[in-house]
Amino acid sequence: MNPRKIIIDTDPGQDDAVAILLALASPEVEVLGITAVAGNVPLALTQKNARTVCELAGRPDIPVFAGCDKPLKRKLVTAEHVHGRTGLDGPTLPDPTVPLQDAHAVEFIIDTLRKEPEGTVTLCTLGPLTNIATAFREAPDIIGRVAEIVSMGGAYFEVGNITPAAEFNIYVDPEAAEIVFKSGVLTTIMPLDVTHKALVTQPRNDAFRALGNATGIATAEMTDFFERFDKAKYGSTGAPLHDPTVTAYVIAPHLFTGRHINVEVETLSDLTLGMTVADWWGVSGRTANATFMGDLDAEGFFALLTERLARLP
Ligand code: RIB
Ligand code: CA
Repeated sequence: MNPRKIIIDTDPGQDDAVAILLALASPEVEVLGITAVAGNVPLALTQKNARTVCELAGRPDIPVFAGCDKPLKRKLVTAEHVHGRTGLDGPTLPDPTVPLQDAHAVEFIIDTLRKEPEGTVTLCTLGPLTNIATAFREAPDIIGRVAEIVSMGGAYFEVGNITPAAEFNIYVDPEAAEIVFKSGVLTTIMPLDVTHKALVTQPRNDAFRALGNATGIATAEMTDFFERFDKAKYGSTGAPLHDPTVTAYVIAPHLFTGRHINVEVETLSDLTLGMTVADWWGVSGRTANATFMGDLDAEGFFALLTERLARLP
């Protein structure tokens, strides 16, 4: 079967890094490029971190593009309190040697969707949706050409992780999320409801480290670092691997279950800004616009991830 073509839009972030590593280790997907966006840390760091991760994976050939350095209309909110000053705190990784691409990430997204056959490119989004929304605004002709958007973001039963109501990726740029979720593109959302069930328990972290390769050890060190926030806040038994649920879904969708429902974004209320209002019980009468995931086979997810990380340097 031909590999599925994907663009990864990301704000690395340790969990973004693991999502990228999983994709680069998996023959089921072909990463056409990685587009960095401001989110967990400023753009200058997210674009650098994306290149660092590609080199860790032994894939300096993957083109990395810098995108939007702030949300569509709001001040950038970052998450150094979770990911550390660099965004990739934990392991000591060498600075990247592969250069950043000259083109803007939005230009790459538009050009790629126009060039590739219609319905063959999936957008895997791991951060705020600013790049995607900007591309859709600048080139509405590409919207109908997207095969699927698979997006980490939002929450319903789990409520917020950056405010009482909102998940970080949506909160940073709610207007961008509204544009993307109302675009009409086939959309699958990985909210906190499912990512909080993908916890890197100690045995799972030990399994990463036991791989003995640079990728496995770095993954153990990254998740060791960024579990602090969730352990302190939720009493979790380990770091929630938010973003790898996106690339795992593209590779092995059977691991996930959810509902096709209406999902809308709060963009007006200060109290609930960025909240994803997910009509899980189908009471609104609003048209379903996304498959909103609620559960996963966690053992199967970690078995897949660990087996694939073993394939990298
Ligand atoms: O709320 C979790 C999301 O915000 C993840 O994508 C994490 O990397 C941060 O971007
Ligand atoms: Ca992210």
